Amino acid sequence: MERLKEAFRMALAKALPGQDIVLERPRSGDMGDLAFPCFRVAKVLGTNPVQLAKDLATQIVMDDAELLAAGPYLNLRLRPEARASRMLENLLVTGAYGSAPAHGETVLVEYSSPNIAKLFTIGHLRSTMIGHTLAQANRYLGCKVQRLNHLGDWGTQFGTLLAAYKRWAEAENPQLDQDFEWADEIPEKRRSPLFRLFQLYVRFHAEEEKEPGMRDEARAWFRRLEEGDAEARRLWTWFREISLATFQRIYDRLGVGFDAMNGEAFYEDKLASAVEAVKAAKILEEGEGGAQIVRLEDMGIQTPCMMLKGDGTSIYATRDVAAGLYRKSTYHFDRCLYVVGAEQILHFQQVFAVLGKVDAWFQGRLTHTPFGMINLPEGKMSTRKGNVIFLEDVLDEAKERVLAIIREKNPELPQAEEVAETLGMGAVLFFNALNDRVKSITFTWERAVALDGDTGPYVQYAHARIMSVLRKAGGDWAQRGRPTVTLDHEVAAIPFEAVALPTSLEGLEDAAAQNLLFELAGLPDAIRAVQRENMATALARQLLSIAKAFSSFYTNCPILWPENSDAVRESRLALCLATARALRQGLWLMGIKAPEEM
Ligand code: ARG
Repeated sequence: MERLKEAFRMALAKALPGQDIVLERPRSGDMGDLAFPCFRVAKVLGTNPVQLAKDLATQIVMDDAELLAAGPYLNLRLRPEARASRMLENLLVTGAYGSAPAHGETVLVEYSSPNIAKLFTIGHLRSTMIGHTLAQANRYLGCKVQRLNHLGDWGTQFGTLLAAYKRWAEAENPQLDQDFEWADEIPEKRRSPLFRLFQLYVRFHAEEEKEPGMRDEARAWFRRLEEGDAEARRLWTWFREISLATFQRIYDRLGVGFDAMNGEAFYEDKLASAVEAVKAAKILEEGEGGAQIVRLEDMGIQTPCMMLKGDGTSIYATRDVAAGLYRKSTYHFDRCLYVVGAEQILHFQQVFAVLGKVDAWFQGRLTHTPFGMINLPEGKMSTRKGNVIFLEDVLDEAKERVLAIIREKNPELPQAEEVAETLGMGAVLFFNALNDRVKSITFTWERAVALDGDTGPYVQYAHARIMSVLRKAGGDWAQRGRPTVTLDHEVAAIPFEAVALPTSLEGLEDAAAQNLLFELAGLPDAIRAVQRENMATALARQLLSIAKAFSSFYTNCPILWPENSDAVRESRLALCLATARALRQGLWLMGIKAPEEM
């Protein structure tokens, strides 16, 4: 498709010298494979776009394709054979399906970044999986990607935790788990040291409302931690380990990984030089109560960015400024994406503005990709108040729902547990990807773990169905649908064995086959859209379109029918194989596995 685009663009450039040629993808394959909207150029030339499209349609001649004027659009439609051979060549022979030539940009993707001693909620899933998908899509497209986890392992909330631990846990239950008398309503699977910490945290916030002096207690503990007090440090290290072990379990389950886990604490010894750099840029001023601030009104930001509090301690933003400077010198990146909730928009505006003032190099390199919150039907989730939905519960529930269906409909299925986990995960992750990143989502169990309709399992089912056809076809067919390496989070572009084109493309001229080829051709654009929009929605939608197109191909074009000639059978199997590969690849970028049987 890339070569075709180039050829079309060149033909247009010749007919319209000096004009800017922007191509689109038509809405359906009936209309064509590529479209050139004539509005803009017609305006520049002072002609009518409908007439321009007509003129171009007669003027331009291309091998293998017809040119059709459709209102103000000039559409290029490949002849059926050409469409089939181009697509199958991309998917089966070249192997690197749609991946652009490596342009070698270094892209940092910072995501997940949970806070220590808090539990992973469904809210964290968004940052984690959107970030994972952005990292994967950028790697797929040839960028050098660093996946960063900016753990929330520093800040006043640790004062709260330390104080709460000293108050209520140290004497009765110092190890946090041994011999603890859990309340009956706490389910078995939740009874962990991390959950104890979480309970302590919630309790502290509840009681502090009645006893304001407790705030000072927490502050004092954070101060001790900052000053390097041995006890505070020891507890902090321990709390951090407890949390990391739990986070790791979740990352393993989700199949995500990071190249660096430098949390906020990592920047502690880099804060002084960061503040120095701000001072050297002559933008540090004294604000209220002796705080050190940077005014940003000239950049349209009314709230100044605080660098140091009146008592000389750092804040969240200070650590982000230090992290920016560190990342510049460590990675010399072209772009850095911060996948963080929309409630932090102002924070990132401030941090980016400060960094840009300190060093113009940063300008245009930093992007906050905010996402909407997941709310509960009864309102906002709040860790402090303890009304949250835990991610593990959602994944477990999704798996259980799938298992129940398998037990009923397909009790003989081998590895039912594993398939249920894969499909449950598919449901949850696909739902997350399909939703517009920026909008808030209201969480309901029905939506989050839905298995019917426009869901991950629908796409996964299409893949499993193809694999079953390939198995029935015998020979190497099914084997060719499998990656040539074991997949883990280090893999973005899945390697498949190169397969020769079928000797004949007979059997693919049917409209349903042509439509499937057209939808397959849309996948590379959808992956580029993920990179361009920093959002997975386009990819999720394209996979649904491919799965739907496959379903109609499957109904309309018999594949293993005894009456089919060998040529028809072979070309249709090749299209099945190409589709299976595309679906597996697309799902994989979103962190979703494609089962072979379900
Ligand atoms: N730990 C923060 C939170 O859970 C998110 C960190 C976002 N990244 C950053 N560079 N500030 O709210």
